[in-house]
Amino acid sequence: MKRSISFFSSIFLLYLAAVTSDLDSDRRALLLLRTSVRGRTLLWNTTASSSPCDWHGVRCDAGRVTALRLPGTGLFGSLPTGVIGNLTQLQTLSLRFNSLSGPIPPDFSNLVLLRYLYLQGNAFSGEIPEFLFALPNLIRINLGENRFSGRIPGNVNSASRLVTLYLERNQLTGSIPEINITLQQFNVSSNQLNGSIPVSLSGFPLTAFEGNTLCGKPLNPCEDDAVSPSSPPPAPAGKKDSDGLSTGAIVGIVVGCVVGLLLLLLLLFCLCRKRKTEENAPPRNVEAPVAAPASSSAAAVPKETAANVPTAASGSGAVSKDLIFFVKSFGEFDLDGLLKASAEVLGKGTVGSSYKASFDHGLVVAVKRLRDVVVPEKDFRERLQVLGSMSHPNLVTLIAYYFSRDEKLLVFEYMSRGSLSALLHGNKGNGRTPLNWETRAGIALGAARAISYLHSRDSTTSHGNIKSSNILLSNSYEAKVSDYGLAPIISSTSAPNRVDGYRAPEVTDARKISQKADVYSFGVLILELLTGKSPTHQQLTEEGVDLPRWVQSITDQRSPSDVFDPELTRYESEGNENIIRLLKIGMSCTAQYPDSRPTMADVTRLIEEVSHSSGSPNPVSD
Ligand SMILES: *[C@@H]1O[C@H](CO)[C@@H](O)[C@H](O)[C@H]1NC(C)=O
Ligand SMILES: *[C@@H]1O[C@H](CO)[C@@H](O)[C@H](O)[C@H]1NC(C)=O
Ligand SMILES: *[C@@H]1O[C@H](CO)[C@@H](O)[C@H](O)[C@H]1NC(C)=O
Ligand SMILES: *[C@@H]1O[C@H](CO)[C@@H](O)[C@H](O)[C@H]1NC(C)=O
Ligand SMILES: *[C@@H]1O[C@H](CO)[C@@H](O)[C@H](O)[C@H]1NC(C)=O
Repeated sequence: MKRSISFFSSIFLLYLAAVTSDLDSDRRALLLLRTSVRGRTLLWNTTASSSPCDWHGVRCDAGRVTALRLPGTGLFGSLPTGVIGNLTQLQTLSLRFNSLSGPIPPDFSNLVLLRYLYLQGNAFSGEIPEFLFALPNLIRINLGENRFSGRIPGNVNSASRLVTLYLERNQLTGSIPEINITLQQFNVSSNQLNGSIPVSLSGFPLTAFEGNTLCGKPLNPCEDDAVSPSSPPPAPAGKKDSDGLSTGAIVGIVVGCVVGLLLLLLLLFCLCRKRKTEENAPPRNVEAPVAAPASSSAAAVPKETAANVPTAASGSGAVSKDLIFFVKSFGEFDLDGLLKASAEVLGKGTVGSSYKASFDHGLVVAVKRLRDVVVPEKDFRERLQVLGSMSHPNLVTLIAYYFSRDEKLLVFEYMSRGSLSALLHGNKGNGRTPLNWETRAGIALGAARAISYLHSRDSTTSHGNIKSSNILLSNSYEAKVSDYGLAPIISSTSAPNRVDGYRAPEVTDARKISQKADVYSFGVLILELLTGKSPTHQQLTEEGVDLPRWVQSITDQRSPSDVFDPELTRYESEGNENIIRLLKIGMSCTAQYPDSRPTMADVTRLIEEVSHSSGSPNPVSD
């Protein structure tokens, strides 16, 4: 008994000794790295008294090496074991754009704190090791432009915090595994991958998949290859054993044809059934809210139904067949009228596509067509009742909604000036009014008030998707917040794909965004408003630096005015105190730990002080 305890505790101690090695051990590891990778010598002052923390590219925290950044340093050779893996406190490793070769050493599995791994632009080879995705803290991996071969490991989903996975320009084969974590950046272009693109990745741009023999959205549909007998699937770029189809491939094609046929039959069957049910109910072409005026010859729906605002989310047949209205001051219309209105696509967002619908009599509304709604009808209707009961001058008004099995539509008031995102990052020509300090402060204040209002409803209500494309602007550049409260009803694989850069570090499920996570996103929005930089900007995300840290690093080294959007400072006297105050408010919102962030009510009060003292107009004027 005693014996076995001491046996286990000595193993435990050994383990501790291995993982809690100190700065001296880090130093030994770095020195070994220096001698084992050839190329340009690392100009480190290696005299015994100098601390490795002062060496170029090395950063320490609490007396341990936490970051090693040696990009473009001309290193070549392979990484031996017992070097990088011994830096057990490492959080950032950037060796990009060197000439390093060989496999990723197996002791990288010790790097349990690693968050950012940038090895792109080297000649690393071998398979991408599975243990990489078992590292619990990984946020970004870039292995692009190397010579990795073999399959993409099947355990990508184990990296629950991963948001960036760049594997482009390697020699990877096989198919892309099902990925159910919420990646924000993904690229596998120019490999030798085949098979179909998992649905969860279909929202990424085409260029993320090009240069493979992949099929499925966003590339060409897969059926084409399988059904058309004249075009055999293109052979992978490999040179060996590719003349003539293997039995495997033939079996694959046959199975593909059969499955394709079955799918086609199933589709026909469904269509027929649908036709049948539609003959019983008044026909409504809800497939396309963009429908042309001639869309459906529907029997007129009684206006009474349309105007009936239900008192409870009953989901009973009578109320569910048409639009359910929350406000009628925008004029009366019914579903058929809405579908017949002339429509124009406004954009494709994370929750669905938006359309501008213009009625003949002059009314204009915005229609959002939700996709990937994951909750049952009852929950959906309850949620919408809550959202419909909200009313604030800085919230985009939800006028009505429609729910059916196939179609979920939200009707909002239409905002003529579009989104803040388009205004900040869109075409700056075209005689567009420059965004001056007063306008920006007013937008910040309006948005803060709307979010404060949402948070004041009860402690669990949050916006869930704050970003500049969800801040719309009225004619007088008044901020109107949209897409509030939809996160819980939308599938989490679709929701955060493009929320890059706004998401608080603690968020793991995009359907559960706390109020403090809202505050973080709002802080990023403030920084975006002042710097004019998109949080998703390539240059930022590639470095693994988010907007808050970029601002922090510039303001640490230089004057705060270096971060501001030139368009903002052009008309301002040098060092407008209020701009700097607002920047500080934004920074405090983006504190890493939720408890260190202010509440939205505090933020609103602070922004009120800032914008009032600079005499900006009070945006809540109506
Ligand atoms: C790395 O750690 C291993 C195991 O703790 C040790 O044997 C080795 O000497 C270390 N390497 C360096 C360069 O210190
Ligand atoms: C190296 O570091 C030591 C101790 O910090 C210092 O005395 C010495 O001047 C440094 N050498 C160079 C070349 O910087
Ligand atoms: C994601 O997929 C893995 C297996 O690939 C599974 O274990 C895990 O439960 C899935 N997670 C979700 C949220 O679907
Ligand atoms: C994908 O390529 C591999 C060879 O790299 C092959 O064995 C496999 O059958 C291919 N799969 C499909 C679906 O074409
Ligand atoms: C993917 O990488 C390729 C380079 O191989 C680049 O041209 C393309 O723009 C990238 N696409 C995305 C979505 O990152």
